Amino acid sequence: MENTAEKKQKILSCIQPSGIPTLGNYLGALKNWASMADGYDSAFAVADLHSITVRQEPAKLRKQTLEMYALLLSIGLNPEESIIFVQSHVTTHAQLAWILNCYTQFGEMSRMTQFKDKSQTHADNVNVGLFSYPVLMAADILLYQADYVPIGADQKQHLEIARDIANRFNGIYGNVFTIPEPYIGKQGARVMSLQEPTKKMSKSDANVNGFISMLDDKDTIVRKFKKAVTDSEAKVRYAEGKDGVNNLMTIYSCCTGKTLEEIEKEFDGKGYGDFKMAVAQSVIDVLEPVQNKFNDYMKNTDYLKDCAKKGAEMAQRISQRTLDKAMKKVGFMQL
Ligand code: TYM
Repeated sequence: MENTAEKKQKILSCIQPSGIPTLGNYLGALKNWASMADGYDSAFAVADLHSITVRQEPAKLRKQTLEMYALLLSIGLNPEESIIFVQSHVTTHAQLAWILNCYTQFGEMSRMTQFKDKSQTHADNVNVGLFSYPVLMAADILLYQADYVPIGADQKQHLEIARDIANRFNGIYGNVFTIPEPYIGKQGARVMSLQEPTKKMSKSDANVNGFISMLDDKDTIVRKFKKAVTDSEAKVRYAEGKDGVNNLMTIYSCCTGKTLEEIEKEFDGKGYGDFKMAVAQSVIDVLEPVQNKFNDYMKNTDYLKDCAKKGAEMAQRISQRTLDKAMKKVGFMQL
């Protein structure tokens, strides 16, 4: 992330370790992280501080954090080139989040759709962390002076609030934070549930047939696609009202690089059975190499922990500069 002679733009993004990520996480975000990492100064984190806004089992959270870290390497991120770390290992995130909390309005947070959704699904635990979650996310981004944040469409509102907070802070104190732009891919930014294609694919879906986990085996992937909801038209074409087929076409397009038109032609005169098998195979082709690498990395957890340690040290060093600047501006006593 440190600039050399030629100043590269910066990207940062994070993912919560609240379960094995889905095909939606992969196509909407992770795939773009991997393809963008080369051209930018990049930092990527496993956002475990965010995960505890919903109650977690400690041993499971620890395991999932390590697995998520291994997956980040498995999708092709290189710890020599990108800063790859676990959020709770870097103290600046919670520190800047506190400061930014004091520059964020209650009304702004109340409008966040994810907060409204999650307070319904976790009605027994609507904690203050869940409410101020977007402020922590703003801290994640602003600490690294990110120019771009590669995310899926569901995180766009959170990014907008991060921009608002940064603009407000800069308006008072001068140029402290870079104003980040979202990077949302043209395709795959909103992969839908295979069972309810008007809902986004989510790892916390109670119906496991609704999502493809990045670690699902071949048979499971085929079975889930066979069960995917389509429609009664039996024609592969992208059109309004054909949510299930549109979603499958999008997935196929992301996994093969074919355009929607090419896909319509390819399956002209063929039924949904053939189409679903082809989609399943394209997903297997994309996920299998990632899974093989994941299995290798998980055999060497010492290596993973070593990378996480180095990543955290680098992240701490870089983010500390921004935190120090913000603390000074706010008026905290310096030693
Ligand atoms: P999370 O962990 O829910 O998801 C990680 C990334 O995956 C994207 N995504 C999807 N994209 C397409 N289709 C889907 N069905 C789908 N589901 C998820 C998300 O948009 C996200 O980009 N708050 C964030 C994590 C976070 C973060 C940050 C992101 C914490 N700090 C700073 C960016 C910058 C979250 O819960 O993502």
